[in-house]
Amino acid sequence: MDKVKNKQKTTASTSSIIKQLTKDSTDITYVPYSSELQLPGIMSLIENDLSEPYSIYTYRYFINNWPNLCFMAMDQDKCIGVIICKLDRHRDALRGYIAMLAVKKEYRKRKIGTTLVKIVINAMKLKNADEIVLETEYTNLGALSLYHNLGFIRDKRLYRYYLNGVDAFRLKLFCKSEIQIPIVEVSDRAIVEKTKK
Ligand SMILES: CC(C)(COP(=O)(O)OP(=O)(O)OC[C@H]1O[C@@H](n2cnc3c(N)ncnc32)[C@H](O)[C@@H]1OP(=O)(O)O)[C@@H](O)C(=O)NCCC(=O)NCCS
Repeated sequence: MDKVKNKQKTTASTSSIIKQLTKDSTDITYVPYSSELQLPGIMSLIENDLSEPYSIYTYRYFINNWPNLCFMAMDQDKCIGVIICKLDRHRDALRGYIAMLAVKKEYRKRKIGTTLVKIVINAMKLKNADEIVLETEYTNLGALSLYHNLGFIRDKRLYRYYLNGVDAFRLKLFCKSEIQIPIVEVSDRAIVEKTKK
């Protein structure tokens, strides 16, 4: 019983992070992961877009252990963006890790990817993360630019990191440095952003 209550409390705090308005009238809603029924939509989105093949166990490892660090961007009932993360100890630091990020092709360049990353940065900061890391293909200019804009730096180059033989950059954001990304408005309800079509 207590466990259930605690879980609800955490979900409430992580799901009340952002309400950000932009120019247009299309509503994209940002919701935390809440049910295994959402997994097929998440998997098909990621399978289309990331070069690495992931088994269902990998998805479950992240989502079942850190459900409050998985968020989806929804166009009505359709999942059009997703971010999957974890947060655990790495040496002396509490380290957040962004495992997967994808936005459906026809929804790109509308700041949906940026908003998903901002949501998890805020969620991880609420949990007192010291740093956040991820890997991306060194040729992935879109992702490199998105993360650079949010304050991530290139920490390491990892040679032939991916199964396809491509190198990766490890990117890192220091959460407790003095440079802060702007905190977005807080709302108690589901997170809604109006984005440009
Ligand atoms: C990377 C990805 C998540 C970006 O999603 P998105 O919603 O289009 O990103 P945003 O609209 O928030 O883009 C923010 C910034 O990132 C950069 N960016 C995004 N896509 C870009 C592209 N194709 N080329 C160059 N820069 C790009 C730009 O600087 C952009 O800012 P701008 O719109 O002011 O130019 C999306 O392209 C995607 O799903 N790619 C396939 C999967 C993937 O590569 N995931 C990342 C793995 S680490």
